[in-house]
Amino acid sequence: MIRDYAVSMSWPVYTFAHIPDLPHLHPPALVAVFGDPVAHSRSPQMHNPGLAARGLETQYVRLQIKPEEFVTAVHACRKAGFAGINCTIPHKLAALAVADEVDPLARRLGAVNTLVFRENKILGYNTDGPGLLRALDEEFSLPLAHQRILILGAGGGAGRAAAIQCALAGCAGLTLVNRTKEKVERLAHELGAFYRSDRLSLQTEPDLRDIDLVINASSVGMKPEESPLSANSVLESHHHVYDMIYSPPETAMLAAARAAGARAANGLSMLLHQGAASFEYWFGAPAPLEAMRRGLLDSLPE
Ligand SMILES: NC(=O)c1ccc[n+]([C@@H]2O[C@H](COP(=O)([O-])OP(=O)(O)OC[C@H]3O[C@@H](n4cnc5c(N)ncnc54)[C@H](OP(=O)(O)O)[C@@H]3O)[C@@H](O)[C@H]2O)c1
Repeated sequence: MIRDYAVSMSWPVYTFAHIPDLPHLHPPALVAVFGDPVAHSRSPQMHNPGLAARGLETQYVRLQIKPEEFVTAVHACRKAGFAGINCTIPHKLAALAVADEVDPLARRLGAVNTLVFRENKILGYNTDGPGLLRALDEEFSLPLAHQRILILGAGGGAGRAAAIQCALAGCAGLTLVNRTKEKVERLAHELGAFYRSDRLSLQTEPDLRDIDLVINASSVGMKPEESPLSANSVLESHHHVYDMIYSPPETAMLAAARAAGARAANGLSMLLHQGAASFEYWFGAPAPLEAMRRGLLDSLPE
């Protein structure tokens, strides 16, 4: 079968009105990402090679869905026979609300990025946190329970997921930084329910001598000259540094880490592993990681 997307390579952005037509594409589009905006999403470039590698006669598309269309669009996809959908900004809270059953981790993270349609039920999961854990393991193979972890941008959606996952992993220390203080204060209060308060600290200028693993979950670094670390925060060779940003692939923080002899990795592995975890929820089979990774790498600018 000729795959439409392989012919066009244009990765179209569909809208709410297209949903009834999507199962009639070749191959049928039965998995999608909902977002607003959504054109920047690299999920089709990652998932379609994975679907082809598994021999699944379906394709993954982007759907530009406005907040007011979200619930109707979810039910329309379910009725059209979709396996499930990913939800990105601004739909992760609405996805939590629309699910009939929410996985306990997603409930704790307060957001759903993966919906699965099964036996007339909508199941909600969050693969951002588990995707980060798999990525850290792949990049650094660190036992998280022994790590003193700094999370920059802990008050944002990704930072919150990272902080909760690291706390659940029982990390040795958790230092949270966020521009808007109220957001990390709220998060610290939530963490207090299951994480030791003497291991938790909120800071504006963290002392990196007390840190093993630095995670940037803020959007600072997307411009080449920006770093989420202040000039006083000095990276050294014993640090492990993970930047969730993958475009540009080498942020100023990652370049500084490598210059200091530290191990450093960008967010491509997190993107891959959160996608792989969604794939596994939809299809109940291991994701073809290497095909998905190759698709992602090929989608990046030279
Ligand atoms: N690799 C992956 O798979 C993956 C997955 C998710 C996210 N990400 C990346 O992670 C980053 C955050 O995403 P998100 O979804 O969590 O976004 P978000 O919810 O909008 O959070 C953005 C975070 O960045 C902080 N921030 C933004 N501008 C800032 C500035 N000028 N100075 C200081 N802090 C600033 C925000 O602080 P305030 O709270 O003060 O606004 C907040 O902590 C993005 O770069 C995104 O691409 C990567």
